[in-house]
Amino acid sequence: MLPEADFAFIAREVRMRSGLVLTADRAHILETKLAPLMRIGGFASLKELAASARSRRDEAMLWAITDALTTCETLFFRDKALFDLFRETVVPSLLRSRGPMAPVRILSAACSSGQEPYSLAMLLDELAEQASPVNAEIIGVDISDRVLEKAKSGLYSQFEVQRGLPVRLLVKHFEKVNEMWRISDRIRSAVQFQRFNLLDDLHPLGRFDVVLCRNVLVSFDQPTRKSTLERLAGSMPEDGFLLLGEGETATGVTDAFESVADQRGLYRRNAHWKASVAA
Ligand SMILES: C[S@@+](CC[C@H](N)C(=O)[O-])C[C@H]1O[C@@H](n2cnc3c(N)ncnc32)[C@H](O)[C@@H]1O
Repeated sequence: MLPEADFAFIAREVRMRSGLVLTADRAHILETKLAPLMRIGGFASLKELAASARSRRDEAMLWAITDALTTCETLFFRDKALFDLFRETVVPSLLRSRGPMAPVRILSAACSSGQEPYSLAMLLDELAEQASPVNAEIIGVDISDRVLEKAKSGLYSQFEVQRGLPVRLLVKHFEKVNEMWRISDRIRSAVQFQRFNLLDDLHPLGRFDVVLCRNVLVSFDQPTRKSTLERLAGSMPEDGFLLLGEGETATGVTDAFESVADQRGLYRRNAHWKASVAA
């Protein structure tokens, strides 16, 4: 068992870097999740690994620990109802207010290995075929280089393509390469990936008309959820849309967003928010 001081050190460093809150009742998961790092570094125990990171303040090691402890679980068209809302509510609203060929920038914040932004790209591809093209730019960001490398490769296992991806889209957009499935260049090139920490200032990324920020706020504490949502709101126009994960909410966390009635997970930027913050 990891001594309390070592656990507290790891928890503090991980939280500072990523926002992830590690509570003492989850201490046991460290052993499993950090086992590969222990092996690579030749550490006989978790205690040794923690002591080494602590005494040398080894930045690379501390980021590797952070990366190993974040949850990267994702799947194609995760929470399908939200993708339906994107197609049926968000896209028509933006096309109405902006005009048919106006550029629409979409952020997949904490995109993990790319299934979320690629699902959007496939959905937009279908809309284009149905004569509703959207002039969209999709950016996927994540803190983890490891998952971004996978996202950029566009290569998925049989297990991964079986989760959430309709067979007709698998046949249409993927080809089998040995044991893996590779997404088509057309869909791959519709998404740009970039390493980015959601705890940082978002302005360098530019403005986004639609933000998906799903299944990452859940691992932050309440003040970090609030500040993250407000940074996102600060990089969105007044008619921008936010989509959250199942079980996540902006209500009661910040006034920067208003939920769209009867549409679970869908929010609009609150047009009065900046004024009330400045007041
Ligand atoms: C559970 S996955 C969610 C993936 C996708 N959004 C979904 O809902 O399926 C959470 C992702 O958040 C990323 N993450 C955690 N903290 C982050 C931070 N501070 N900035 C950017 N990404 C972060 C992790 O690396 C991980 O890939």
